[in-house]
Amino acid sequence: MSQRVKGVIARAKGAPVEVTTIVVPDPGPGEAVVRVQACGVCHTDLHYREGGINDDFPFLLGHEAAGIVESVGEGVTDVAPGDFVVLNWRAVCGDCRACRKGKPWYCFNTHNATQKMTLEDGTELSPALGIGAFVEKTLVHAGQCTKVDPEARPAAVGLLGCGVMAGIGAAINTGGVTRGDSVAVIGCGGVGDGAVAGAALAGATKIIAIDTDDRKLEWARKFGATHTINAKGKDVVAEVQALTDGNGADVVVEAVGRPETYKQAFYARDLAGTVVLVGVPTPEMTIELPLLDVFGRGGALKSSWYGDCLPTRDFPMLTELYKQGQLDLDAFVTEEIRLDQVEEAFGKMHTGDVLRSVVIFE
Ligand SMILES: NC(=O)c1ccc[n+]([C@@H]2O[C@H](COP(=O)([O-])OP(=O)(O)OC[C@H]3O[C@@H](n4cnc5c(N)ncnc54)[C@H](O)[C@@H]3O)[C@@H](O)[C@H]2O)c1
Ligand SMILES: [Zn+2]
Ligand SMILES: [Zn+2]
Repeated sequence: MSQRVKGVIARAKGAPVEVTTIVVPDPGPGEAVVRVQACGVCHTDLHYREGGINDDFPFLLGHEAAGIVESVGEGVTDVAPGDFVVLNWRAVCGDCRACRKGKPWYCFNTHNATQKMTLEDGTELSPALGIGAFVEKTLVHAGQCTKVDPEARPAAVGLLGCGVMAGIGAAINTGGVTRGDSVAVIGCGGVGDGAVAGAALAGATKIIAIDTDDRKLEWARKFGATHTINAKGKDVVAEVQALTDGNGADVVVEAVGRPETYKQAFYARDLAGTVVLVGVPTPEMTIELPLLDVFGRGGALKSSWYGDCLPTRDFPMLTELYKQGQLDLDAFVTEEIRLDQVEEAFGKMHTGDVLRSVVIFE
């Protein structure tokens, strides 16, 4: 048995996305079908459409989602039909070398659904980040469903499924931001503002938001930025140093994913400071740095996959902080859109009009 629903696919590199009919199989062992209520538009979806991730077209896009479990397959005990869940792309296996070392947030063998969602002609779809949630119903591994407080707003907590979690975790989990730190965040989209919010939650006393768009900087202040720099025509490194007694920040989060901004991050941190790359580069990008600077400046150069999060630990906790008013997830939702407006939402990413567009399903 299977169901036919509407979803958004990227059929070919660079081509506009399209709404089409998706065939969703009934859940097999270990799987769940989720009725999606809300799904944010992340820059990574655009990377997929542009062929920047891999060439496994057609993609079923969307991956920052919340919804209700509709049905579960054999052997599923952690979630049941009716549960309100945020989808994750880190259903840890418990058995790979990272999990066995007690570092499951690095899990190298995360679970996805075994069966494939397809087009009506049987063409198998590659779901973005193993989820695929710009679709009325999606098939995932049950471990990709994390139960959170059902009173939370789907459009807001769904964002914990990727960008906002990646940003918060980049600051707190990967960067180790703590009370009294100075933090600079380069790129203040959903991910960067997540890092700003994370730094604020962790007690950083100076949070410098950097973007090329003034509206983004205004929003970053709402999440806790104490200072802002419009990077256009500015020497970002000198500006960050000027705001940190000439030293640079303890932690710099790069949330753009470009060589020039990574270099800024590298030089805008204090000696022995930490750089966290959470922005995703494309395959052709390279970087050249004097090795003596890499050595001489000390500290740590880290990458943050999904904010080094553990969904089972972090999603319910951050949902609770949201409910208590300590984490303003609603402020990430600039607009609610329909499924047929995803392409428009990609366009808005380049004009700085939105932080997150979120597709809402009836
Ligand atoms: N590591 C992860 O697990 C993870 C998860 C989700 C997204 N991402 C990546 O994070 C990045 C950001 O995602 P997003 O959804 O926030 O994107 P976004 O497009 O909403 O935000 C990017 C921001 O960077 C700003 N920017 C662009 N060029 C700049 C420059 N030279 N200097 C300063 N700011 C600049 C833009 O104005 C924009 O505000 C993307 O590369 C995305 O793929 C990574
Ligand atoms: Zn594992
Ligand atoms: Zn994402």
